[in-house]
Amino acid sequence: MPFRTLDSLDVAGKRVLLRADLNVPLRDGKITDLTRIERLSPTIRELSQNGAKVIVCSHFDRPKGKRVPEMSLAPMAAALGDVLGKRVRFVEDCTGVAAEQAVGLLAPGDALVLENTRFHAGEETNDPNFARALAKLAEIFVNDAFSAAHRAHASTEGVAHLLPAYAGRLMQAELQALDAALGNPLRPLAAIVGGAKVSTKLELLGNLVGKVDVLIIGGAMANTFLAAQGNRVGKSLQEAEMHGTALDILARARDAGCRIVLPTDAVVARELKPDPPTEVVSANVVPANAMILDVGPASVAALIQQLPSWKTLVWNGPLGAFETPPFDAGTVSLARAVAEATKHGLRSVAGGGDTVSALRHAGVIDQLSYVSSAGGAFLEWLEGKTLPGVAALAG
Ligand code: 3PG
Repeated sequence: MPFRTLDSLDVAGKRVLLRADLNVPLRDGKITDLTRIERLSPTIRELSQNGAKVIVCSHFDRPKGKRVPEMSLAPMAAALGDVLGKRVRFVEDCTGVAAEQAVGLLAPGDALVLENTRFHAGEETNDPNFARALAKLAEIFVNDAFSAAHRAHASTEGVAHLLPAYAGRLMQAELQALDAALGNPLRPLAAIVGGAKVSTKLELLGNLVGKVDVLIIGGAMANTFLAAQGNRVGKSLQEAEMHGTALDILARARDAGCRIVLPTDAVVARELKPDPPTEVVSANVVPANAMILDVGPASVAALIQQLPSWKTLVWNGPLGAFETPPFDAGTVSLARAVAEATKHGLRSVAGGGDTVSALRHAGVIDQLSYVSSAGGAFLEWLEGKTLPGVAALAG
């Protein structure tokens, strides 16, 4: 989908409303992961250097239309100032007199963070009046929040129809990386989909079987597929009510010429806890008192062997219970092999909250072609859905 970028924009002296995603992890008032703020900073720097008055708006958490002091964006404004190495102002509302006055004090190059848009009920209902109040603050709208683009909210969608709208550098990078992965990929194209439940990734699997050449299913989700095929999976996590759906996905994959890869062996234990006694077993005969907690070494070795034959790889979801050692082993080995293959030309794109944690845990977060900062938006994009925040930038 064509969209306007900052390349075609003269912002000198102009008020620019920048939709960011400052929905960052916060514990005891402290930000525990600055990734989203760091990734946003190039757009702010560019706008500032070109003389814009930068007005940053974002949601944080889910205050449900009420002012919740613990969900203020004040700590994010301070962190943004630290990352940018310059003063970033903050105003305690995102619309109305206070916000308008704060904007009126900005000089070219200055940056201001507005208070949480979700303190107003009109944000999530995409209320035209609330969108107009936001639009009133600026002359140009720049959206850099791909990770919130699956929400048709006033600050992601409504306002884009009221001001000339552009994609920021982070939005642009996300869209270009995702298009190269699934829109116009070099083939063969493989996807690895892991995670706990088939039921949460049904649409995603359905979309992928029609697009990718190879689909690797991992995590507890694979147990459902194995059980649906009549394999004994012991007391592994699986969804008995999804067996029919799993078989249907396998049939659709066959029709579409998509090869499905399921684990052939598994690491099992009696319970999920750190460092219990484990055993490697064939994935079709798991002992009745054991559960699959990680993909087995033979399955990982087979995947690693196939990596050089793929030109593009999309990855969402870990292959095992990676947060509990030693069940991180399969995901970590594969992540390192993907990083190595990327050095030799594989285009690797990953995304989703758990996947990002797993890649960070494996120490390869910077070694894939692109790691999306989005969670829900990345999933909806994998499902083939149109993201309203992106659609509103078309032009
Ligand atoms: C995210 O963290 O995925 C985005 O900021 C969207 O947040 P939401 O799920 O609360 O809309």
